[in-house]
Amino acid sequence: MKIDKRLLELRKFVAPEFIFGEGAIKLAGNYCKIFGVKKALIVSDQGVINAGWTEEVVNSVENSEIEYSLFSDVSPNPRDYEVMRGAEAYANQFCDGIIAIGGGSVMDAAKGIGIVAANNREILKFEGVNKVSLPMPPLICIPTTGGTASEVSQFAIINNYQNKYKFAIISKTVVPDLALIDPTTLLTMDNYLTACTGIDALSHAIEAYVSTASSAITDNFAIEAIRGVSRYLPLCIKHPENLDYRANVMNASLQAGLAFSNASLGVVHSMAHSLGGYLDLTHGACNAMLLNSSIDYNFSHAQDKYQRIASEINNSNNMNYTKNELISMIDDFKNSLGVNFRLSDKGVTSTDILPLAQNAINDPCNATNPRIPSIQDIEIMLNEAL
Ligand SMILES: [Fe+2]
Repeated sequence: MKIDKRLLELRKFVAPEFIFGEGAIKLAGNYCKIFGVKKALIVSDQGVINAGWTEEVVNSVENSEIEYSLFSDVSPNPRDYEVMRGAEAYANQFCDGIIAIGGGSVMDAAKGIGIVAANNREILKFEGVNKVSLPMPPLICIPTTGGTASEVSQFAIINNYQNKYKFAIISKTVVPDLALIDPTTLLTMDNYLTACTGIDALSHAIEAYVSTASSAITDNFAIEAIRGVSRYLPLCIKHPENLDYRANVMNASLQAGLAFSNASLGVVHSMAHSLGGYLDLTHGACNAMLLNSSIDYNFSHAQDKYQRIASEINNSNNMNYTKNELISMIDDFKNSLGVNFRLSDKGVTSTDILPLAQNAINDPCNATNPRIPSIQDIEIMLNEAL
């Protein structure tokens, strides 16, 4: 029997209270009461409003006789100035708690609003690790996509719109007070959003698993997440109305989130943050395009772990897969989801590579990659994905 010696390593694990299951969204109002919130700022976006999920939250809040104000001016890749406007709305409306209902962009914007509301400084000042001194007001996050896991994470990713890059705020203070994780919300996603957000979850799990800050506990979550996304994401594309398949992807996304929030990420995300801010591209699509070249770069520095990832994706006991076999599995998986693009398909040209690498090299996700990249290494990975 193989004993995992790493269980004796002293590790901290941070996670919020979360409620998972059908109908979780309806508990928003009740939890506002429990947290003592008198007036909530509900942060959302137009797509989620159109899907009807924001109204569910409004109904729940009204049923609990909590006052609210709606802020929905949030773009995909949420912008610094949108966060500042949201914080202004929070103050002007005399709110004392926040409910985020939406995907990663909405939840990260809500975290940004909470940071600014509590600390009263420009959001750009909080870039980096442990830069938030005062805790946020009560924050309830309700995800409507299966991938970002912002609802359980210590990360908020905001777009520095003027300088065209997305920056990470990593701090225990941005972990929400409560996540209400309701798989029924995934039923209104189209196939492209399902695939992109699911690939984001897979990228979280892979990067957390090979991270130099991984632990025996984060590995458990990462492996379960890789298994869950590999099995159930293609089934969600084939049977988008099947709630059981959706629940399994939501579960995998949650597990990937618990893994990466505590083990951090790697070069896929440092490059994806740069790319997403520079060209305003969908986060999951960025990850999908960068996974292959990151494996090519990292494989020899975490070979056992990548071989285990390959065996999970392929649902086999073979622990001797090669780098190229794993890369071709990832390609097959992306093809099955209809999201196997190259950077050039999304408008990236060779002249973009250097500025993209210059932004990516400063991202904190590089610090836990199995191999610390130079700017030239990042240029090579981006060129490989071009
Ligand atoms: Fe991500």
